[in-house]
Amino acid sequence: MMNKQNTSRGPRAHASWMAGLVLLSFTVLEAPLSGGAIADDAPSAARPSDDDLRRSDWIAAGRAKFISVCAYCHGSKGNAGKVKSFTERQNWDPQFIHDTIVNGRTRGANVMPPWGGSIPDDEIWRIVAYIKSLSLDFKGPIEAPAAK
Ligand code: HEC
Repeated sequence: MMNKQNTSRGPRAHASWMAGLVLLSFTVLEAPLSGGAIADDAPSAARPSDDDLRRSDWIAAGRAKFISVCAYCHGSKGNAGKVKSFTERQNWDPQFIHDTIVNGRTRGANVMPPWGGSIPDDEIWRIVAYIKSLSLDFKGPIEAPAAK
């Protein structure tokens, strides 16, 4: 009894695993392109305070995301690519950075894809925190409040 069930489950489990894989790769490939459309429905987090944007845990989380998603075009410190290095910025408006990430931007052949639909808004703010931490006028990180 048990044996029969187990053997009949094998191939089906494999098939759904494969389907999941196909779906996953589809999602990964499509996400940046469809980002703008989905962004309209996505809830957006309120603009964090300047202190939140200096939190060391936010900067670390944003750095990890930036390196996995953005460094491909911008370099790990935003010092490569088609725009002035992120390390040479001063007075860079966090809201502008956020909105550029959400909506993307196209200037001739230079295409910054929109990420609003594929990266949750709170994660985008952590990326903003990392980008701000690269700026010339960054005042230094603030330790995260102790976990309760
Ligand atoms: C496919 C390459 C590519 C990827 C991936 C990419 N960007 Fe960009 N990004 C660009 C280009 C090209 C521009 C400049 C667009 C222009 O010239 O207007 C840009 C512009 C920007 C700007 C505005 C810079 C300025 O001077 O105004 C910010 C901020 C930015 N990107 C952040 C990010 C973040 C954060 C990510 C990851 C979530 C990311 N980018 C992923 C190509 C990319």
